[in-house]
Amino acid sequence: MYIAMNNFRVHADRAEDFEAAWRNRESYLDDVPGFREFHLLRGPLDDEGHRLYASHTVWQDEAAFRAWTDSDAFRKAHAQGKVGHLLAGHPKFIGWEAVEL
Ligand code: HEM
Repeated sequence: MYIAMNNFRVHADRAEDFEAAWRNRESYLDDVPGFREFHLLRGPLDDEGHRLYASHTVWQDEAAFRAWTDSDAFRKAHAQGKVGHLLAGHPKFIGWEAVEL
């Protein structure tokens, strides 16, 4: 199992807009080989008052995740809304390999 998390710091007064961008998106994940689960996670405020979010996806393995990032499904999902202006800096990606299940 492999967990891919992209971490976002969002201007606190734009958190609603950020959530709406996700809610209103067209999703292309369901037919992707090796895809298991998706969640958008809302976290606390950070030390600078930015709202933390993470997109959290569970995959069969890292190879399935890598294949998705090279796919049309990934490109189409990311050609939708533009959220750059809602963010306080670039998102930070971390991939997690499950060690014990
Ligand atoms: C390796 C990097 C990334 C990963 C793992 C990732 C993960 C995901 C996933 C799983 C989805 C949902 C796709 C679907 O439902 O079909 C998605 C959509 C989205 N991603 Fe990413 N993403 C990455 C890079 C980025 C970057 C750099 C940004 C913003 C600058 C971003 C912003 C968004 C937004 C806003 C959506 C919702 C659709 C839209 O409005 O465009 N992602 N991403």
